[in-house]
Amino acid sequence: MNREDFPIFQEELIYFDNGATTLKPQCMIDAMVEYYSKYTANAHRGDYDNSLKVDLLYEEVRDKVRDLIHAKSSKEIIFTSGTTDSLNRIVFGYMRYRLQPGDEVLITKAEHASNILPWQLLEKEIGIYVRYIPLDRHLVTVENVMNSITPKTKVISLAQITNVLGDERPIKEIGKICRDHGICLVVDGAQSVPHIPVNVDELGIDFLAFSAHKMLGPTGLGVLYGKEELLEELRPTVVGGGMNATFDSEGNLEYKSLPSRLEAGTPHIAGVIGFGKVLDYLMSIGMENISKHEKMLKEYCVSELQKIPNILVYNADIPGSNVAFNIDQVFSQDTAVYLNHYHICVRAGNHCAKILKEDLLVKNTCRASFYFYNTKEEIDQMVKVLKASENIFKIVL
Ligand code: ALA
Repeated sequence: MNREDFPIFQEELIYFDNGATTLKPQCMIDAMVEYYSKYTANAHRGDYDNSLKVDLLYEEVRDKVRDLIHAKSSKEIIFTSGTTDSLNRIVFGYMRYRLQPGDEVLITKAEHASNILPWQLLEKEIGIYVRYIPLDRHLVTVENVMNSITPKTKVISLAQITNVLGDERPIKEIGKICRDHGICLVVDGAQSVPHIPVNVDELGIDFLAFSAHKMLGPTGLGVLYGKEELLEELRPTVVGGGMNATFDSEGNLEYKSLPSRLEAGTPHIAGVIGFGKVLDYLMSIGMENISKHEKMLKEYCVSELQKIPNILVYNADIPGSNVAFNIDQVFSQDTAVYLNHYHICVRAGNHCAKILKEDLLVKNTCRASFYFYNTKEEIDQMVKVLKASENIFKIVL
């Protein structure tokens, strides 16, 4: 779908590393170039035409993000530098001041480092406990969530879709459990918001983090969504210009209201404007259509890979858009280098989910992660190359 919109396809390239970052459409590149070449100005600071134009465009994009995830108000949308930044702000700007020693945070061993390390640091700092919901054949089940909750559980923090196996968690059911038990639900949406429709209200999500660059947008930009009453309590982890209403030499400081209070310094203006373009673009394709196409590609890829005797697929039965695999007895990075020889890009390694190996019992995998512009023909090409992998060490070494 829509391959003509991506200038990078003018070169020979099969790009299956969309879980890491996606390709960029011309409309996004043009929007950023236009800002830099025709109306550069800072946001929220100027009193001249270009500055006003920037303010309007910047805030329009906030409204588009609100609509994308069905937030109640644009004040609930904070621009950050990415999912990692958003999750760190939730942990160190909110949870650090709300949680008490002995409180429990539930995560899983399949989380990305960004949803493990901040919690582990907070555990050391204030004496909370980070506990792991047991996985059932690598999946989160509602039953295991229920069984993991204790009166001390104050937070459940999960990826909606995991980045290695690509499984989608039952967030709506978990959201209900959280509401019933007074637990805060934090969702890492890095691998879900780009691929499926997400409605924070219906799902009962309290905080959501995601990145622009995994959904056609620029790098260095992300979103922190929080329910307004929670964001009101979230302390800025960065202070400076643009977020203060007033301060004096005595150290008295008054913050601006949301969302400015949480956006200190000059924001990634070009990025936000570019992101606005890709949000329109994604909406015109439709998130349902994107999800359907990717699931079809995954099923096809799995069925083709399973025809090759020495290929191990680790997530064949999990619907989604990632295929985690290895060539039997071959280090995953060697496979990635081999595929690169044929201009096929996959990611290899532990994919920043470094403790998943305790559950999967496999340390490294190759991951082919799809987006709507990928095709069955590209998969055929990868399968053909993998079938011929008896020559792998001639190419890799
Ligand atoms: N989190 C990104 C990935 O899964 C970088 O590849």
